[in-house]
Amino acid sequence: MMRLAVIGPGAIGGTVAAWLSRSPRVAEVTLCARTPLDRLVVETPDGSVIEARPRVVTDPVQITAPVDWVLIATKAYDVVGTGAWLAPLVGPETRVAVLQNGVEHVERFNPYLPADRILPVVIDVPAERSAPGRIRHRRDGTIVVPVGAAGEAFVALFADSVIVASTTEDFTTVAWTKLALNCAGAVNALTGRPGGVVRAAGIGALMRGMVRECVLVGRAVGADLGDHLPDWVVERAETSPPDSVNSLLADRLAGRPMEWDARNGVIARLGKAHGIATPLNGMAALILSAAD
Ligand SMILES: NC(=O)c1ccc[n+]([C@@H]2O[C@H](COP(=O)([O-])OP(=O)(O)OC[C@H]3O[C@@H](n4cnc5c(N)ncnc54)[C@H](OP(=O)(O)O)[C@@H]3O)[C@@H](O)[C@H]2O)c1
Repeated sequence: MMRLAVIGPGAIGGTVAAWLSRSPRVAEVTLCARTPLDRLVVETPDGSVIEARPRVVTDPVQITAPVDWVLIATKAYDVVGTGAWLAPLVGPETRVAVLQNGVEHVERFNPYLPADRILPVVIDVPAERSAPGRIRHRRDGTIVVPVGAAGEAFVALFADSVIVASTTEDFTTVAWTKLALNCAGAVNALTGRPGGVVRAAGIGALMRGMVRECVLVGRAVGADLGDHLPDWVVERAETSPPDSVNSLLADRLAGRPMEWDARNGVIARLGKAHGIATPLNGMAALILSAAD
């Protein structure tokens, strides 16, 4: 029986914590929160509701013993506040799973932990939070982690949930494929317009160009990315509901910080390191950073 802690019980952390709190393999879930919450109420994709009352702590001094698993589900830019929880939660056997967007899951937390203790997670579980602890989990979704002992153990945690968890031999390609999708989403935050903006003159070509840069940089770091990705990303955008709002746009509209560095800045930074020009992602990151 596992003892887990979830740092950042927002849309993703709250959804995952609610499902795992029902797992027969999990003895205890602790929520490490910035904003206090009384309980989790998660509306699931089939309309049923999971109500859970995990232990909630709001200060690292309230942690008295390490846990078996730490799940990090804060936004990618909340590294310092997240890192403050790790010292009391992590013991010699603890594994730390990072459920965040981007391709730098390990690099982000390497200042706090050895890389071999960190399990990067690509999560595609659409969820929204309406208030602290009140979450709508919209579609079952998937979790992908690297193959290996830690990956297999993490996948086993989700055996009793609707979230489909699996391992991959090529995590780099999975993470960069998601980044290809996410980097083009900056167009929505930049224009302030939802998914339908893809049909405006020149926007599809702009998105293709952003994805092309991502593909070149991803290949330079070892991802196996096909030439079809720019068209695939634009086709997905064209067939999505015109009023769909991605998280970058939602954050911009709400005046919250945005994950522009994890989604676009990283392409420009790694592009520069590998001598690959990334003017479109560089400009997107710059404008969104100035708007942040
Ligand atoms: N939502 C989705 O559908 C979705 C899908 C795929 C991937 N993702 C990725 O998953 C990650 C999490 O996203 P999200 O949508 O779940 O974000 P979110 O709803 O904003 O949740 C983030 C949570 O982290 C908390 N937090 C921030 N700093 C903290 C600290 N120092 N200590 C403890 N908690 C702290 C926030 O607290 P407050 O309550 O004070 O805000 C909030 O509860 C992101 O990288 C996102 O890109 C999200």
